[in-house]
Amino acid sequence: MYSQGLDQRDDAPRRVDDPAATAHDSALHARFDERVDAEEKIEPNDWMPDSYRRTLIRQISQHAHSEVIGMQPEGNWITRAPSLRRKAVLLAKVQDEAGHGLYLYAAAETLGVTREELVDQLLEGRAKYSSIFNYPTLTWADMGAIGWLVDGAAIMNQVPLCRCSYGPYARAMVRICKEESFHQRQGFEIMLTLSRGTAEQTAMAQDALDRWWWPALMMFGPHDSESTHSEQSMAWKIKRFSNDELRQKFVDATVPQAKFLGLRVPDDDLHYDDATGHYVFGEPDWSEFAAVLRGEGPCNAQRMAHRRRAHDEGRWVREAAEAHAAKHPRSGGTPVGPEAQQWANAGVRA
Ligand code: 3HC
Repeated sequence: MYSQGLDQRDDAPRRVDDPAATAHDSALHARFDERVDAEEKIEPNDWMPDSYRRTLIRQISQHAHSEVIGMQPEGNWITRAPSLRRKAVLLAKVQDEAGHGLYLYAAAETLGVTREELVDQLLEGRAKYSSIFNYPTLTWADMGAIGWLVDGAAIMNQVPLCRCSYGPYARAMVRICKEESFHQRQGFEIMLTLSRGTAEQTAMAQDALDRWWWPALMMFGPHDSESTHSEQSMAWKIKRFSNDELRQKFVDATVPQAKFLGLRVPDDDLHYDDATGHYVFGEPDWSEFAAVLRGEGPCNAQRMAHRRRAHDEGRWVREAAEAHAAKHPRSGGTPVGPEAQQWANAGVRA
């Protein structure tokens, strides 16, 4: 989207023994660090270290893929929503996730990578997406649990990203977080309705909490001691809190909500520690997390097969959009070949 403006890349070949070049690089680095420390936003045309650019492309694109793949578990329930109101709300939520994917791909493109490259990485299994979307949605209560827990965890992780040092990502996150907050509330409202309903409905809500609690805690990523990127990403102010800090904040905020619902968090070790003012909680099953990341979760194969199929089925739309853009240069396309000749003959300037 904005990548045509990226004319100040850091990849021009330089001689390592050239003292002027080294001094120039150090000065650029120092200026970049100063700006990050001063809470200035780094913008697409600003100089940035290649490793900062690569980290952002990795994180933003994985985030975009997560939003898009994340449409599947809930999309599965649109036709089975229990009322027209529930259907309209769920439809709107799933559409929001598609929108989030698009803002995020656009933000990643400002770093000089194309959307096609990013989508190829996902389809070829070279890019990750969030572990959480590899679990099945078995009952309607899962729509409640996803909104409450998964979107709740997403907000906890993403609100600090609104202060990310990279401007386009930070700005995309402002809008995304507003929408995620609606998603969390609609999920909590489903859980509230079920937990105040019949014994069968309460049991459904409890079952959904039992199945989604631990995967929601895993969304925050590995322990800080195992996290490859946290330290550098925090120094660059991409991440503002570590994985463990955010997981703790999520538990502290969510356990009282579970109590309000009258549901039991499935963790025998869970208790409140008066001394620290935080909940102490048990250990997620990290071998399960590793298996999901290796593609061996309950729904990994299904999610990717569906995404590949949707991509193939959407080919005609992409081709039609390209053909339209070529015919309508004023809306961004450049006419080529006989089309351009025809326009030129008719006195229309491309
Ligand atoms: N699922 C899959 N992979 C994960 C993961 C998870 N839950 N948590 C960590 N990982 C991966 C990392 O991507 C990294 O792998 P890589 O080097 O191949 O990229 C590896 O595990 C080590 O983890 P790190 O802690 O070092 O990685 P990060 O510093 O990138 O931290 C993160 C992980 C906290 C998820 C961070 O990338 C982040 O904040 N990303 C932006 C938010 C995001 O992507 N959220 C995904 C959910 S989106 C969503 O929930 C949609 C909503 O509508 C519900």
